[in-house]
Amino acid sequence: MSGIVGYIGWQNAVPILIDTLKRLEYRGYDSTGIAVIKDSSLGIRKRVGDIDVLKESLYKEPLNGMIGIGHTRWATHGKPTEENAHPHIAGKIAIVHNGIIENYLSLKESLLKEGRKFLSDTDTEVIAHLIDKNFTPSAGSGPAGSGLESAVQKTLKEISGTYALVAISPADPEKIVIARNENPIVIGLGRGEFFIASDASAILSYVKDIIFLDDGEIAVIKKEGVQVYDRNNKQVEKNIRRLGLNPILMEKGGYKHFILKEIFEQPRAIWDTVRGRVSGGEIIFEDFKLSSSDIKKIKRIFITGCGTSWHAGLIGKFMIEGLSRIPVEVDISSELRYRNPIIDSDTLIIAISESGETVDTIASLRDGKKKGAKTVSICNTIESSLSRESVSTINIHAGPEISVASTKTFTSSLSALYILSVYLAKLKGVIDDNETAGLINDIVTVMGKIEDVMGLEEEIEGLSKMFYEKKGFLYLGRGINYPVALEGAMKMKELSYIYAEGYPGGEMKHGPIALIDEHTPVVILAPQNILYEKSLIDIEEVKARNGVVIVFATEGDTEVVKMARHVLYVPHASEYLTPIIMSIPLQFLAYYVALRRGLNVDRPRNLAKSVTVE
Ligand code: G6P
Repeated sequence: MSGIVGYIGWQNAVPILIDTLKRLEYRGYDSTGIAVIKDSSLGIRKRVGDIDVLKESLYKEPLNGMIGIGHTRWATHGKPTEENAHPHIAGKIAIVHNGIIENYLSLKESLLKEGRKFLSDTDTEVIAHLIDKNFTPSAGSGPAGSGLESAVQKTLKEISGTYALVAISPADPEKIVIARNENPIVIGLGRGEFFIASDASAILSYVKDIIFLDDGEIAVIKKEGVQVYDRNNKQVEKNIRRLGLNPILMEKGGYKHFILKEIFEQPRAIWDTVRGRVSGGEIIFEDFKLSSSDIKKIKRIFITGCGTSWHAGLIGKFMIEGLSRIPVEVDISSELRYRNPIIDSDTLIIAISESGETVDTIASLRDGKKKGAKTVSICNTIESSLSRESVSTINIHAGPEISVASTKTFTSSLSALYILSVYLAKLKGVIDDNETAGLINDIVTVMGKIEDVMGLEEEIEGLSKMFYEKKGFLYLGRGINYPVALEGAMKMKELSYIYAEGYPGGEMKHGPIALIDEHTPVVILAPQNILYEKSLIDIEEVKARNGVVIVFATEGDTEVVKMARHVLYVPHASEYLTPIIMSIPLQFLAYYVALRRGLNVDRPRNLAKSVTVE
């Protein structure tokens, strides 16, 4: 987690560091800091709080310099204090780091014995001390050059763990040295200037050409150019990627919050996921590299992901099993990677991740690959670590999602899973051309109906007045809508800090029913599908215990309204696509409840969008 940035060039680094850090705030925002080199010395500023706090302090007491590094932190080792905020300094070395150094305690012990003084509780400070210890200004022997890069190289041999690392030193002032092991870092190429960031989207408004560093690589960046070396100190020729992302998508575009903008972007985002992949009743999957004979050999599919992506996977299971009849298991990535699952060359692993950088998801995919499985990832970030490690990548093209809580990437992932399910079913020969065309038509129809769902905003805002002071919510759904209940409950928890539980409707009576009283709102998803009658029973059971029921039902349903006071109608959709339609009003509900509670809906406390640590 955490976001790191750097700049070297001909401009004052400080405003650039602040601007790019601001764009990485989704990676953590409990404390921030920058360091710049000016006149052979380091200028450092750190603050507890978000970038605006740091910006304010720089406004009062400016810093400047044309080489600098910055960090926005999501705490792992040590509380969010100024001492624990990055950059960390040892002697004339300043570093920012994203990741976890596993052997930091033993290293710290030895460094303490050598008389080194530590100011923080972080694992990162150990790296700063090691680089300082290994630093000899005139050491010309390192194949990657002298000074800072040699010291970084020696240090990397001593540490174990994960890192994206950026180092500067006024003792070797004309360069920035960066290194990567399992945490992303990119270099943006400008004219006589270079931008470094955890994520390419942060530097989009400055550059279009990007180098993605790979694991084990180290880069030395000077005003004159960039040199990249591999683990064996061999110089590497890197591909330069031209990014097609639109910086306008990174702005709020007139909306009060990014999350609201992203909720409203869903018709466009889903369209961008689907278009280009369907044509004339057929699915064209250029980015899916498995052949029809590969698919026919697949005996089992594992879907894996974390958080919202895991919920998308749970829904994907219904789609894939229902349409292609291939058995699917869905596992949270942090569980899958440690449970030694039965995976072999007849297995397909589908890893879902908005960021493509979630460490547990990447580890699960890698483990599957080692066991011979075929791999496909569903991602929203081009060139992410996950997409680069999987054989096929389905990019959902939802556009940058700035709000920490996922909305549009959830429904876009569902759309990608749907298209994939139809595709697998067709390749396996389970459905014919007509059925394929019908299923494609279903999603095209749903895309037209999503705008109608947006019309529920006002009604839900009104409803939020009644519920924003409640202590807890229960969400019930059945079948394919059970994971939608999980996702709805998670949105409520993330945004409003109200405890919310998602449960399968039929399982309510085995525990959660004890929670129900006149103070507990129960959100029930009751679309007119095969489980509709059962959902009506759920409504009755909650009402019998004085629970307050909020029902999301299908337009034209005249039964539900007789049973519940709060009924919201969504358009009809085919079974596999109801989750897309149902999840949008739940996003509005969480948003408006949180807003009434006066909370930061784009950056809820303690969360980070991209979880690159275990
Ligand atoms: C974090 C975010 C969630 C997200 C999860 C997985 O916990 O706060 O919104 O669902 O990570 O992220 P991924 O990028 O792998 O989808």
